[in-house]
Amino acid sequence: AASTIIAIDGPAASGKGTLARRLARHYDFAYLDTGSLYRAVGQAVLAAGGSPADEAAALAAAEALDVNRIDEMAIRSREAGEAASVVAAMPKVRAAILHFQRDFAANPPGGKAGAVLDGRDIGTVVCPDARAKLFVTASPEVRAHRRWLELKGSGSAASEAQIVDDIRDRDRRDAERTASPMKPAEDAYLLDTSNLSIEAAFGAAVAIIDKAM
Ligand code: C5P
Repeated sequence: AASTIIAIDGPAASGKGTLARRLARHYDFAYLDTGSLYRAVGQAVLAAGGSPADEAAALAAAEALDVNRIDEMAIRSREAGEAASVVAAMPKVRAAILHFQRDFAANPPGGKAGAVLDGRDIGTVVCPDARAKLFVTASPEVRAHRRWLELKGSGSAASEAQIVDDIRDRDRRDAERTASPMKPAEDAYLLDTSNLSIEAAFGAAVAIIDKAM
């Protein structure tokens, strides 16, 4: 039987990752955080002492990417997030990891019946035929506060004001690039989590997705 695909897109720190992970558990589907792929490419370039803006270096890192060897700690830093959004604007880098994402969605690991993918362009480009699509948003201030709590927990000294700036920069880069810009698919449901608990956002998402199943 064909894999059932759920696409979760949205801006940085919108809560889409937490939501997508819970949805995958709820439906017993495989889960892929596609942002981690771009972060790993950006981080690999930084770790080699290169610049994320160097397209040849970014493409080489994307082609050499081994998804089983992603350093989950290193890719969560502010620097890796910034580098990710720089390499993610390069069409060749996107093309290099598109096949992996589509293959994961069509043939979910572990023999699962479906897959949940989260990112920026899952509903528009990677899996336009997904069974259900959500575009998860929250105000920049709410997102910055969530990211700040997260980073503080991992020992980062960045101020909340710096993180608001990071988030606005990243939103702009992600929405204004010509290669697969971040935007809701026409058939995506918009879910604003600014005033929702994780529990409430999850309940709203399940109600939407169950109708599409
Ligand atoms: O979701 P996360 O914040 O981890 O993503 C890091 C960066 O990777 C984003 O800012 C975006 O530039 C890029 N990205 C993307 N397409 C995706 C997922 C992430 O361009 N599907």
